[in-house]
Amino acid sequence: MPNDTAFVPHPVRADILAIALAGLTASPKTLPAMLFYDDEGCRLFYEITRLPEYYLTRTETALLSSLGSAVVPDGFHDAVLVEFGGSDEAKARILLDRADSPFTTYVPIDVAGPAMTDMQARLSEIHPALTVVPVVADFMQPLSLPLPAGPRMGFFPGSTIGNLDPVSATRFLTAARESLGSDSWFLLGADLRKSPKILLPAYNDASGVTAAFNLNMLLRLNREAGADFELDRFRHEAVWNDRESRIEMHLFSTKDQVVSVGGQDIAFREGESIHTENSYKHTREKLISIAAEAGWAIYQAWEDPAGLFGVMLFRAG
Ligand code: TRP
Repeated sequence: MPNDTAFVPHPVRADILAIALAGLTASPKTLPAMLFYDDEGCRLFYEITRLPEYYLTRTETALLSSLGSAVVPDGFHDAVLVEFGGSDEAKARILLDRADSPFTTYVPIDVAGPAMTDMQARLSEIHPALTVVPVVADFMQPLSLPLPAGPRMGFFPGSTIGNLDPVSATRFLTAARESLGSDSWFLLGADLRKSPKILLPAYNDASGVTAAFNLNMLLRLNREAGADFELDRFRHEAVWNDRESRIEMHLFSTKDQVVSVGGQDIAFREGESIHTENSYKHTREKLISIAAEAGWAIYQAWEDPAGLFGVMLFRAG
C-alpha cells in the first residue's frame, strides 16, 4: 500500500454516527433499537428465539398452530394477509400453509429488502398460487399499499407491539387501520404481563445470548460510527419497571470512562446506563383498550394454557 494512502478498514457511516451521538449526548443516555439488527444482530436474535428461557416465540407458534382456522373469521376468502415487519415467513406460514387458508395474497412490509426477496422466492416454491407482494418500507409510517380488492387481515406477531410505548402503539395501529381500509381485520400476537420471575430470565438468559445481542450494538458503533467502546467495560442487564409495565434493556458502564464516538468524547460514570430497548408487557385488557383507541374492535382473544402469551383478533370498527 502506498504510504500516503490511509487504510480505512470500515468507513464511518454518517447516518449511524448521527443517530448514535443523538442518543449518547442525551440524558439519560439511549441508543435506538434499530441499531440491533445488523447481520450479526439478526443471527443473535434468531438464537434468542430458541433459548429455553425465551418462551415467547415457541408459545406464540404453538398457540397460533393450535387455533387453526379459528383465527379466520367466518366467510373469509380470497383475502390478503398484510404482515407488519415480515422479513421472515415462519409465523405467516402457520396461516398460509393450512389446506383451508383463505389467503390468496401475502404482503409483507419490512425495511429489509434483500431478506424479503429471498422469502418471496421460498414462498413461491411452496405456494405457487399465492401472490407475494413485498413492500420495502418502515411500517410505522402510514402507507398507501398496493392491495387488491377484497377482505384484508393485518398480522403483527412476535410481541413487537411491546417494543412500542403505548402512544406509539396507538399511532401504529391507527396508521395500520388507515392503510388496510374499512373491510379489514387485525391479528395481534403479544406477550402478557406476568411475574418478573418469568420475564427477567427471558431477557437475562443464562447462556448470555441476550447480553451478546445487546453488546453487539457497541461493536457495530465501533465499526460504523468510528467509536472505541471496550466491551468488557459494559454489562448487559434487563430490568423490570413495574410502574411502566415493561422490561428495559440496559448496558451499564462498569467504571468511570470516556469513549470516543466519531471523534467526540462521551463520558460515563460507573453504573451509568445506556437504555437500548423496552418490551412492554400489557394485560389483555390494556391491549384491547390500546387497539380500541386506534379504531379496532375486539372480536376474539385467546391465550396459551399457561396464560403467558395472547393472540387477539380485531375488526375495523
Ligand atoms: N420483540 C422482542 C421482545 O421484546 C425483542 C427482543 C427480545 C429484544 N429480546 C431482546 C430486544 C433483547 C432487545 C434486547 O421480546
